[in-house]
Amino acid sequence: MNSPALPASFSSEPHPGSSYFDLSRDEWLERIAARKAQLGDQLVILGHHYQVDDVIRFADVRGDSLGLARYASTADAQTILFAGVHFMAESAAILARPEKRVILPDLRAGCSMADMAPLDELEQAWQELATVRDVTRVVPVVYVNSAASLKAFAAQRGGVTCTSSNAEQVLRWAFERGDAVFFLPDQYLGRNVARHLGYDPRTLAVWKRHEPLGGLDAEALASKKLLLWDGYCSVHMGFTRAHVEHWRNERPDIRVLVHPECHDDVVEAADDVGSTAHIIQRVAQSPAGSEWAVGTEINLVNRLQAEHPDKFVTSLSPYPCLCATMYRIRPPYLLWTLDELAAGRVVNRIKVDEQTKQAARLALQRMLEITT
Ligand code: 13P
Ligand code: SF4
Repeated sequence: MNSPALPASFSSEPHPGSSYFDLSRDEWLERIAARKAQLGDQLVILGHHYQVDDVIRFADVRGDSLGLARYASTADAQTILFAGVHFMAESAAILARPEKRVILPDLRAGCSMADMAPLDELEQAWQELATVRDVTRVVPVVYVNSAASLKAFAAQRGGVTCTSSNAEQVLRWAFERGDAVFFLPDQYLGRNVARHLGYDPRTLAVWKRHEPLGGLDAEALASKKLLLWDGYCSVHMGFTRAHVEHWRNERPDIRVLVHPECHDDVVEAADDVGSTAHIIQRVAQSPAGSEWAVGTEINLVNRLQAEHPDKFVTSLSPYPCLCATMYRIRPPYLLWTLDELAAGRVVNRIKVDEQTKQAARLALQRMLEITT
């Protein structure tokens, strides 16, 4: 059998050789379990809810972004292996005690939304904003789905990070500290939370990254309460209001439960909205026979279906919405990183330069304090 060649990564570390891909699924799973047992409490595996079953089964702790960041900040194990995407592993590396090391089994596991907000574009936007209003009265709120440099940028300007589960509390905090909030990168999370907090949509404006002054006129810009970067999650954009209507016609008792990265039209039409942990809890706590159409990543929806055979759980969309970067973390990568660790080599370690780390930690810690 020919083994698929692995594309070059931006890691300087070697990738698993083709021999890893020649193993059967059972061999991967057996060898991962054996390595994990061998490494014992030196290692903790954190798994985000969007991971595939063959990876999440090895997670010692499963969670949403907030839960995993919190766990990483107090983890005892020397090595934290992060089964998730880069920004999550980076937050873990920032929050973990300095002697800990954080590994991401495939460094190409990024986030397309995070990539929509590079630091230089934010710096440029901030400079332009400063020409029309006092930016010392604008509080940057950065969704954790972003690079460490953005978190540092926010901290240096009195700002903070948020996750999907605490965005409401964090935005309240931010509005008390300035005249306006600059929210990024996800315009929909910002919009959905602002609506829930009762902000008039006319006080919001989308900052279009590639247009002068964000595509807004100076007068309008000076009076807005909430500026939203024009980023979005391509996975959650797969859900539409027509999907909600479809399920309501098909099954009148169904409840529509969505992630707040969905379009505001979808969130408005849904029965409930929340983080991945909230979605799991709502389905788990519902009585047998409950029916749910869930608007989030397909691996989580399929798992909910499998774990609750007494309930009807389906994806809101007829087309599976898969997060291709979460999906990069697969058993051969997990096995390779564990084999290397057992041989005394730490591969794919997440590193953040000290200056950025300190500032980004401040933004993350502010968030944790607001939400404790
Ligand atoms: P949660 O924090 O709700 O797990 O969301 C993370 C994420 O990336 C959703 O797309
Ligand atoms: Fe990023 Fe969307 Fe994937 Fe979440 S689901 S990691 S926001 S691309």
